[in-house]
Amino acid sequence: MSDFMTKRKRTHYCGDLNAAHDGEEVVLMGWAHRWRDHGGVVFIDLRDRNGIVQVVFNPDAGAACHSEAGRIRSEFVLAVHGRVRRRPEGMANPDISTGEIEVVASDLEILNEAKTPPFVLDGTTEISENVRLKYRYLDLRRPEIQQKLILRSRVAAAARDYFQREGFIEVETPFLTKSTPEGARDFLVPSRLNPGTFYALPQSPQLFKQLLMVSGFDRYFQIVKCFRDEDLRADRQPEFTQIDVEMSFITEEDIIRIMEGMIAHLFRSCLGRELPLPFPRIAYRDAIGRFGKDNPDLRFGLEIRDLTDILKESGFKLFSEIACGGGVIRAIKIDDGKGLSRKDLDELKDFVAQYGMGGLAWARVNPDGWVSPIFKFLSPAEVAAIQRRMEAVDGSVILFAADSPKVVNDALGNLRVHLAKKLGLIDPKALAFTWVTDFPLFEYSDTEKRFVSTHHPFTSPVLEEVPLMETDPGKVHARAYDLVLNGSEIGGGSIRIHRKEVQALIFKMLGLSEEEARNKFGFLLDALEYGTPPHGGIAFGLDRLIMLMTGAESIRDVIAFPKTQKGTCLLTEAPSGVSVEQLMELSLKIVT
Ligand code: AMO
Ligand code: AMP
Repeated sequence: MSDFMTKRKRTHYCGDLNAAHDGEEVVLMGWAHRWRDHGGVVFIDLRDRNGIVQVVFNPDAGAACHSEAGRIRSEFVLAVHGRVRRRPEGMANPDISTGEIEVVASDLEILNEAKTPPFVLDGTTEISENVRLKYRYLDLRRPEIQQKLILRSRVAAAARDYFQREGFIEVETPFLTKSTPEGARDFLVPSRLNPGTFYALPQSPQLFKQLLMVSGFDRYFQIVKCFRDEDLRADRQPEFTQIDVEMSFITEEDIIRIMEGMIAHLFRSCLGRELPLPFPRIAYRDAIGRFGKDNPDLRFGLEIRDLTDILKESGFKLFSEIACGGGVIRAIKIDDGKGLSRKDLDELKDFVAQYGMGGLAWARVNPDGWVSPIFKFLSPAEVAAIQRRMEAVDGSVILFAADSPKVVNDALGNLRVHLAKKLGLIDPKALAFTWVTDFPLFEYSDTEKRFVSTHHPFTSPVLEEVPLMETDPGKVHARAYDLVLNGSEIGGGSIRIHRKEVQALIFKMLGLSEEEARNKFGFLLDALEYGTPPHGGIAFGLDRLIMLMTGAESIRDVIAFPKTQKGTCLLTEAPSGVSVEQLMELSLKIVT
């Protein structure tokens, strides 16, 4: 144990010092963020998790202390004893919270040395993400990443606070379990004791939280890891965290009200922002119709409007043929499109091509009338109807997409977001929450040639629509709701099925034989027979929520040790091969 460490305790975090501490003696510990030697006076920016303070080593500080200071290099670990003083006139640094003061050192111990880091931690240099992830422990020293993880910790604590106050009980559910379908592949874990069998890591605690309701816990929550083997994107990780909730004897309204309270509490206590409640709601059908997506970004307009009825019989063959073949013609309007050049319009056409659109027709209102490659095929009445429907004025540009509803919605839904970014229509401070409700219970999967659950198979249908289930399943609505923030789905849930007959019918609709349903979910069907209360719940993606609360661009920036897009951990080099002995113990053989 070093002499310094046994004799002295840290008195302050570096970042907490300010002019109020002028004259105080302090003991600080941290890392040398930057060092400069100005003709014998050594300046060190000392960094800990709360910030950075300038430490000065004068030649008269004591010979030993001063000569040690000369050895300091970036990221050395230091213990410093000294006195706070105001910086000399004109030397204050308004960019940092400690900028008015400095610490004049009287004693120093180098607690540990450091190799030159593979990248500078000053936040101004672009560093490749692969290098950052390989040396994640160094990357995590960067204040901007630390701040995100500190906020994450505070949000989790605030959520726990809220749930405790509202009478929820936190219960842990198993990780080594049986598959729960949430639409992704399972991660499997081989069982040594039961050769040839596998656990699945949970995609969510869905069935366990429902069983806890059967057991009478009434209000459950858990901040819990979930595992999904799916293709990764900027807002998806193979393991991620949910704030998971379930309640008994409630309706959709109770869940929505209590969850709005929770979200408002998190924003108030962790960001000091008041959210106006209740959040707006939009039916799934309207979300798709007006915004092309079930996770609409409501921070800007650019709403989609349908023009199929107007253009169905028009002289523009491409459109009339698509409309007569069951397709749709929809459009969005840019209010001030004067700045959009032909080149920009071509670029937008290329953008929608990735969603399967064969083209993107346009029309522009100039002071002397319309300019458009397609309007020569339209009658004056059709043009007037378009103008009215789109509320076009001088300077407007209208973009038209014609294809199947799915392709058009996808293309225009994404084009909307692309345009909003390109045209700078998004207020970076805006928080646009919305509930999306009235989802269809089933979606038809073209690849599987059968109906699949829109949410998951345990979601209750709207009871009055149950008779439609066998005649027109696509028309049945789910008692489900998603919470969307700025175009990102941050949570989703539903009222569950609590009667065995309904659950069995859903499994049948999903193409599961009675035997398959028993094999996979027999325990749930059994439990439903022992007095299951009406219940429902929701789960929020904590990582996504923190991303939005911190303005992070990637989900990886709010997770301490994330995986790459390929699902690998560059720090530990997981996943990795295992020895033949390990495989044998598990009765496994690699076949590729
Ligand atoms: P769902 O599948 O909608 O619902 O998940 C809930 C929320 O979890 C987040 N999320 C993810 N975040 C990061 N990476 C991923 N791969 C990922 N997948 C999902 C999203 C999503 O809204 N059991 C149900 C909830 C319920 O019905 O109560 C469920 O898991 O923000
Ligand atoms: P064309 O007759 O192929 O030159 O197309 C005339 C205009 O219609 C061009 O501006 C194309 O970009 C546009 N266009 C082509 N296909 C579509 C489509 N499916 N939806 C909307 N516009 C289209």
